[in-house]
Amino acid sequence: MILESSVYKEIFGPLIVHESQKVIKFDTETEKVESSLISNIPREEIYNVFKDLAIVIPLKNEKLHLLDGVLKAIPHKCPIIVVSASQKDIPNHFKMEIELIKHYYSLTHSKVLIIHQKDLGASEAFKAQQYFDIIDEKDGLIRYGKGEGMLLGVMLAKSIGAKYVGFIDADNYIPGSVNEYVKDYAAGILMSESEYTMVRLKWRHKPKVMQKGLYFRRRGRVSEITNKYLNLMIADRTGFETDIFVTGNAGEHAMSMQLANIMSFSSGYSVETHQLVFLLDKMTNPPQPEKYKDVYEQGIEIFQIETLNPHIHEEKGTEHINEMILVSLAEIYHCSLCSENVKKRILEELYARKILNRGEVPPKPSSMSPIGDLDVKKWFRTVKKKSDTLVILE
Ligand code: GDD
Repeated sequence: MILESSVYKEIFGPLIVHESQKVIKFDTETEKVESSLISNIPREEIYNVFKDLAIVIPLKNEKLHLLDGVLKAIPHKCPIIVVSASQKDIPNHFKMEIELIKHYYSLTHSKVLIIHQKDLGASEAFKAQQYFDIIDEKDGLIRYGKGEGMLLGVMLAKSIGAKYVGFIDADNYIPGSVNEYVKDYAAGILMSESEYTMVRLKWRHKPKVMQKGLYFRRRGRVSEITNKYLNLMIADRTGFETDIFVTGNAGEHAMSMQLANIMSFSSGYSVETHQLVFLLDKMTNPPQPEKYKDVYEQGIEIFQIETLNPHIHEEKGTEHINEMILVSLAEIYHCSLCSENVKKRILEELYARKILNRGEVPPKPSSMSPIGDLDVKKWFRTVKKKSDTLVILE
C-alpha cells in the first residue's frame, strides 16, 4: 500500500499525532518505491499482521445481509469477535446472527467468537475481578452501549492473544471498504515506531442519496463538529491554531494491545472522542512520566489514514446524530484541558442546534477505567465456565 508520508505531526507530551495520510495505491508488492513523499507498505508485511489483529464487530439489530458482507470482507487470518447487543425476545435477532455466523464459519473456517453483551459469564468475570465500571446497576449485567461492547471485545481479543485490536461497524454496505479498513489498520501498525499505536480512519467520502443521484460528501455531520472543538481546545491551550485532529469520531479504528491496556473507554457513542480526550488529559495535564515511564520513552503514535473507499452505512436519523454530537462535545466540555472560553462556545453550539435548552450543560459521559491490570486468563476462564451465550468457532 502506498500512503502519503507523514510529513507533519503535532506532539503533545508523549502523544505524536500524525496529520491525515491519504491512501495513494491500495496494493503494492515488495519493490522499493523511491520517493520521500510516500510510504510504501508491501502487501506481504500487511498480510503478516492479520493473525495478530483481532477485529471486533459491535452489533445491535443490524440487517443480516450487512453483517454477512462485513464478515466475508475481513481478511481470512484475522480472528473475528462479534459482540452483539441485539434483541433476544421474539423475533430472536441474536439467534439469527448465530445461525448466520455458524454458516459463515462452515464455509470459511475463519476463527470467530460471538457473545451477547448481556452474557452472564462475562459480567461475572468482570465482577470477580472487582471491575464494576461496565456493570449495569439495574440488572448486574454488562450495560448496553457501543463503548461497553467494544471494551468487552477488547477483553476477548486479549484473551485469545491478539496483539492488536480493530473495530468495524456491522452496518457497512460496501464489503470492499471493510476489506480496505483492515488493511489500513495493518499499514498504520507497520508505520509505527512505538508499541503504543492507534490508527484512526477518516473516510474519503460519505455518499448521500440525493434527487440527482449520489452526492459524495467530504465531511460527516458529527465529526465536523467534534473535530472543530477538539482543535479549538488545543489552540486555546497552546496559542497556536491547529486542524490536526480529523478523526474525533472515527468509529473505524485500531490500537495495539499495549495501548488498549492503558486506555479508558467510555459509554455508548462518546467512546471515540473519549479516547483522544483521555490521552491528552492523562498524558499532558499534568504529565505523568513516572507512572507511564515506558509510554513516555516510546511515545504514543496516532495515525489518521484517509481511506480510498467511500463509507456507506445505515443512516439512523437526526435524533441519533444529535445524540452523538451531544456526547462527543460532552467529552470535550468535561476535559480538564477545556478552557472556559471553549466551554462557552460548545454550549452555544448545543443551544443553537436545540440539542440542549439554554442554561443546561452536557452531562459527563461515564467512563470505564483501563483493563490492563485485570488477570485476563482468569477472566476468560470465568467467562467460558459461566457463559450463557459465548460461541467459539475455530
Ligand atoms: N455491541 C453493541 N452494543 N453494538 C452496538 C451498540 C451496543 O449497545 N449500539 C450500536 N452498536 C453497533 C451498531 O450495530 C453498529 O454496528 C455500530 O455499533 C455503530 O453503531 P451505529 O448506531 O450504526 O452508529 P453510526 O453509524 O451512527 O455511527 C458510527 O460512526 C460514527 C462516526 O461517523 C459509530 O461507529 C460512531 O461511534 C462513530 O462516532
